[in-house]
Amino acid sequence: MFLNEPVLTKRIPTWPWGNPADRTLVSGDQYAATGGYEALRQALTMDPADVVTAVKNSQLRGRGGAGFPCGLKWSFLPDVDGGRRYLAVNCDEAEPGTFKDRLLVDYDPHLVLEGIAICCWACQLDTAYYFIRGEYHHQAKVLDNAIAEAYAMGIFGDQGLLGGAVPFAVDCHMHRGAGAYICGEETGMLEAIEGKRGWPRIKPPFPAIKGLFGRPTIVNNVETLAAVPDIVARGSEWYTTLGCASSIGGAPSFGTKLIGASGHVNRPGVYELGLGFSLKDFIESDDYCQGIRGGAAYKAAIPGGVSMGILGTDQYDIAMDFDIGPQCDVLGLGTACPTVFDEHTDMVMVARNISRFFKNESCGQCTPCREGAQWLYKLLVKIERGQGTGKDLDLLLEIAGSMGTMPGTTICGLADGNNWAVKTIVNKFRGEFEARLQPSLVAVGG
Ligand SMILES: Cc1cc2nc3c(=O)[nH]c(=O)nc-3n(C[C@H](O)[C@H](O)[C@H](O)COP(=O)(O)O)c2cc1C
Ligand code: SF4
Repeated sequence: MFLNEPVLTKRIPTWPWGNPADRTLVSGDQYAATGGYEALRQALTMDPADVVTAVKNSQLRGRGGAGFPCGLKWSFLPDVDGGRRYLAVNCDEAEPGTFKDRLLVDYDPHLVLEGIAICCWACQLDTAYYFIRGEYHHQAKVLDNAIAEAYAMGIFGDQGLLGGAVPFAVDCHMHRGAGAYICGEETGMLEAIEGKRGWPRIKPPFPAIKGLFGRPTIVNNVETLAAVPDIVARGSEWYTTLGCASSIGGAPSFGTKLIGASGHVNRPGVYELGLGFSLKDFIESDDYCQGIRGGAAYKAAIPGGVSMGILGTDQYDIAMDFDIGPQCDVLGLGTACPTVFDEHTDMVMVARNISRFFKNESCGQCTPCREGAQWLYKLLVKIERGQGTGKDLDLLLEIAGSMGTMPGTTICGLADGNNWAVKTIVNKFRGEFEARLQPSLVAVGG
């Protein structure tokens, strides 16, 4: 499939619908003056359960990486019991190569705040914590200001949502991270919001049952919540006209997605596209990435965050949707922010660099992750220096495999992400690794 018909659901100019140089921050007043918070008004006339049903029918899938159906997650909450219920908004965005949530904060913060208010009404959540990546200093200021504007406009606060349109009050707080990737994992984030070290929790119980402060909690990515106002305003059927159905009989990939492109492309940036577009067309299109830098050939791409693994040279003309995992032997679509590598890229260096990231970011709770990450890095350094043997390469894959046995051996998915990154790079570019081994030791396996 070629690139979808142009559909822009966010207000952030992206090529080819607008020049990113024209991006400006939309204030609360500007947002409201251009139809903002009308979807919230509409949602508040609906029964909360009907709002959940609308999101369920849209088949919106989480934009944080796992693609879990949003409405289904919302329906896991237990009945209201008079106690507190929370929304934890995930804007940790520490996955290397992923920078699409930042735009929503930078330019259209009220879109996400409206999504938060609608979600809180639908799920009857009284408090939202907006967790923002520690390194997003400027964005934290923008967000802080936008939340203050939303309070001044009566969106949040004691009077009830939208100036007291309903007798249901919601508070929204910003919580800044401190620079740890693991705080993007949903339960690591909950620990961090509670003021503790960001160590992921063993699941079950899942956050919907026992989340923040032991109470029912929904965790959603900011881009997921940004899709909600449009779904309420334009209807779930409209949403299913965007994106694509599954070609392998799985769950569909409806809707648009913010696609952050980086690496060896002529025009990196964030673009909004319907899911299901061809990676090759996206990279080569004059409207989008404008080809590979310096006219070089494509070699590989990470589909959306290093934990997803890598697409090989023969996996260029593939559809970017949630079917990509089983179809291309990667973990999944992830954040759909491709990092592109040209023909001159040293894949051994790429693997070593990624494994260094995981080694530094493992929280250390689980032995396979803590020890495995160190070993993968050490072995890759050895191979990169030309000191590795055939046995080292086998050991590398064996250790990676032992880290990828979720669920069971590790608490969260970071270890499995490390496994997918290393094993797919080695398997798809094995010749490059073998060429780096000590020549006399390759044949006899070290
Ligand atoms: C190691 C790790 C890091 C993660 N980092 C993020 C992140 O930065 N942002 C995010 O939204 N989700 C991240 N996730 C996924 C979250 O755990 C969770 O699935 C997501 O926030 C749910 O929101 P969604 O259903 O709206 O996508 C991470 C998961 C893992 C295992
Ligand atoms: S898998 Fe790794 S990052 Fe996740 S909890 Fe275990 S040690 Fe921590």
